[in-house]
Amino acid sequence: MNILVIGSGGREHALVHKIKQDGIKTIYCAPGNAGIEELAQCVPVKADDVQGLLAFAREKKISLTIAGPEVPLQAGIVDTFTANGLTIFGPTQQAALLETSKAFAKKLLKKYGIPTPAFEVFDSSADALDYVKTRSFPLVIKADGLAAGKGVVIAEELSEATGAIKDIMDKRIFGDAGKVLLIEEFLRGAESSYFVISNGNTFIPAGTARDYKRLHDHDHGPNTGGMGSLSPSDKLTPEIEEKITKRIISPLMEALRQEGIVYKGVLYTGIMIVNGDPSVLEFNVRFGDPETQALLPRIENDLVSIFMDSAKGRMFAEPITLKRDASVCVVMASQGYPASPKTGIPIEGLKDAVGKDTFIFHAGTKNEKGTIKTAGGRVLGITALGETVRTAREKVYRAVNTIVFEGSQYRRDIGL
Ligand code: AMP
Ligand code: GLY
Repeated sequence: MNILVIGSGGREHALVHKIKQDGIKTIYCAPGNAGIEELAQCVPVKADDVQGLLAFAREKKISLTIAGPEVPLQAGIVDTFTANGLTIFGPTQQAALLETSKAFAKKLLKKYGIPTPAFEVFDSSADALDYVKTRSFPLVIKADGLAAGKGVVIAEELSEATGAIKDIMDKRIFGDAGKVLLIEEFLRGAESSYFVISNGNTFIPAGTARDYKRLHDHDHGPNTGGMGSLSPSDKLTPEIEEKITKRIISPLMEALRQEGIVYKGVLYTGIMIVNGDPSVLEFNVRFGDPETQALLPRIENDLVSIFMDSAKGRMFAEPITLKRDASVCVVMASQGYPASPKTGIPIEGLKDAVGKDTFIFHAGTKNEKGTIKTAGGRVLGITALGETVRTAREKVYRAVNTIVFEGSQYRRDIGL
């Protein structure tokens, strides 16, 4: 069997690492990074080049393709591959609307009575501007479409809300993703990520995690793609997990069925828990980055057969079992991230940082004549497993402290 993984981040490195452990010998990654290169053959095809990826998968007779990021899913890679007789793990373009259109997702939730913050959808900035004048703050302003995780503004006052509406709808800072805008009630609570894998008919729980979105310790500073993660999430009790399956995931699967949408692949639900009750903030139709770097090292099953069952719409042979260990992932980012990361800096100490149950997942790295250099905003995700969060934290920060590159930024409070 040979496998193609699409993407170039820490999430994809964690996927390739897990697949290799599952015994797959031939793994390709498009386009990959300097860490993935050590485990897989990297091919210079971009993650959004659906036709290029199709040609490659046909030429190499790929048995299973796994799309890491959302962009190829939005571009319909699953539809294209399936129409060409190829097996691919992930949702179709229509099913991916759960992530690619927040208005679609919210309207579906509302129609089927699934808990989510109250919201209004606007297709004119004048109407949105009138509406916010009548509301109290904070309010959450969201671009409808994909905005690389930057399309959400928590407005504390009217001027911030009007600024965000003008940026998104009039200036189109996220392009067509801002044609439609949502204004949402702000919820204060504890946030967690909840993962399931679906075969189009049933789903199996695939673990929980928590993402640390802000740049600086104790949730200060600008929002980022994610500066670290913890799995399992410390915010979810078994009772809350049961509420999530009963009130959110099962009714959602039923809602999709009623709408004639077959959902295959991983579904990652962003949940806010308020007074013990879960509410949906967002859906992602792919694994999270950096949640995956913490989650995957805890999965005991052969993940490839689960991906295969999902892609082929077969019954899952077994539930997903997770190690009891806690897993902590700390992201090391470049100087200037997220606004304007400085790249091309040599990274030292990578070899010394690896240890038992400590993994170095590369994100923005490149190998320049044998020297590993930074090549993006988020550079590395260091994960460690431990019997407790505390021991995992000790291990992970020991590894982080042996890795050096000029200007590196990381949070000291992941899992604290
Ligand atoms: P989203 O991409 O929709 O998950 O939003 C990004 C982040 O904004 C979330 O992870 C939350 O931290 C925050 N957020 C989104 N919606 C809300 C809301 N209704 N209330 C409070 N925080 C929110
Ligand atoms: N960590 C957030 C995401 O992957 O969207």
